[in-house]
Amino acid sequence: IEITVIDREGNRAEGVPWEDDESLMECLVANSYPILATCGGNASCSTCHSFLDRATFEKAGEIQEDEEDVLDTIEDEREPTSRLTCQVEWDEDLAGAEVTIGPM
Ligand code: FES
Repeated sequence: IEITVIDREGNRAEGVPWEDDESLMECLVANSYPILATCGGNASCSTCHSFLDRATFEKAGEIQEDEEDVLDTIEDEREPTSRLTCQVEWDEDLAGAEVTIGPM
């Protein structure tokens, strides 16, 4: 599928490919976005934090307890559609998602 990504400088890229064997974090890394993913995708570092558009947030599945705990630690940055992108799994329904990369 393809998604739209807005980077930390506000640059908007459409048609960013997201392969079906990648988490959203892995997609961003594969497309050379500066996501550190320090914990390797284990919902424990928050460096993959990003904001989803509202419709995508609704479709992206429930936030599990470990992710919720990490999001709590960055409450200053957190917004209603915040997710740890390593916890967002590929889904055909997420085509056209708009992802805004969170602050460092
Ligand atoms: Fe560490 Fe997502 S990569 S929380």
